[in-house]
Order: sequence, then C-alpha cells, then structure tokens
Amino acid sequence: MSNDGVNAGRRRFLVAATSVVGAAGAVGAAVPFVGSWFPSAKAKAAGAPVKVNISKVEPGQQIVAEWRGQPVFVLNRTEEMLGNLEKVVPLLADPDSKDSVQPAYVNPQQRSIKPELLVLVGLCTHLGCSPTFRPEVAPADLGPEWEGGYFCPCHGSRYDLSGRVYKGQPAPLNLPVPDYSYESNDVIVIGVAQEKA
Ligand code: FES
Repeated sequence: MSNDGVNAGRRRFLVAATSVVGAAGAVGAAVPFVGSWFPSAKAKAAGAPVKVNISKVEPGQQIVAEWRGQPVFVLNRTEEMLGNLEKVVPLLADPDSKDSVQPAYVNPQQRSIKPELLVLVGLCTHLGCSPTFRPEVAPADLGPEWEGGYFCPCHGSRYDLSGRVYKGQPAPLNLPVPDYSYESNDVIVIGVAQEKA
C-alpha cells in the first residue's frame, strides 16, 4: 500500500512535471510566431517607397504613379503654369498651405522642391475621389477664371495646379503632398523625405 502511495505520488509529480515542461515547450514554440507580427513582405512592399523616372515627363505633362495603393500625380509644370499660380491666390482657401498636409521642405505656394515638378496624392480631401487633371485655361465647362488645375468629378471641388483648393468647395483642404526626394535629376523617390535622402 505504501509503495502504491509513493508511486501514486510520484506519478502525480511526473504528470505535474510533464505539464510544466509542456507549458515551457508551448512558450518556446510561441517565440517563432513573434516574427509573424512584423509586416509581411507583401505589406512592406505596399508601404515601400516608389521610384519614378521623371526624365520623359514633358513640360505640361502629368503621369500617375501608385504609392501605398493611392494615385500620386507627378506633373512637370511649364513656366506659364507656374506664373498662373499667382493669379488665383485670392480665390483659394489655403494659398500658403498652412492647414494642409505637406512636408516642411516644400515651398508652401508652389508646393514642390523644384518649382516645375509637382507631386501630389491624387485623392480629393472631401471624400477621396481622384480629381481630373484639367490643365487648360478657361475651358467652357469650368469658366473664365479657370487657370488650369484639378477638378473632382464627384462633387465638383476645384484645385489649382499646386493642388490648392478653391474657396467654398466641398473639399476642405489642399491635395496632400507626400514625402518625396530626388535620387538624381531624373529619379524621384516617393515616400522618402528629402532630408533623409
Ligand atoms: S470627393 Fe471630391 S468633391 Fe467630393
């Protein structure tokens, strides 16, 4: 009887010890899963910086890149387009981009590093439609005061060729300028700030 009691006690001890090892094993097995809490390669790629070759973008032409699943407008502005930015200032809600999203290293009015090259997140600040590029001056449908800009087809918000919103529009803010930098004269990197380049 006493032996049985010892054995029974030992069995209980062994069961308990095994449980502890099992728990330790479970902790050990959990460690590799920590790796899966970091972003996957796909998630990293989705948020990764995007390089855009701007050497073939002619003056007056815009291309659309994709960054973080969003359209990014890359416009090579002509001298005339840059000159027209000044004309519309009285009509704008936030001409110096004080309330709008843009990096500190871009000019507040031209909203760019180099005057000619504009980089904008192409999503309306009202409800996120993608505005249409309308570079022509005074087209019949947009009126005589139109100096070229972006027109949102969803609810009619108007922006100039710096992405600055006109007064009295559904959209409250200018189109955002993302972080970007010049890797060379021909290549910009969207998603990398100029000072870190
Ligand atoms: S989403 Fe552009 S005006 Fe409403």
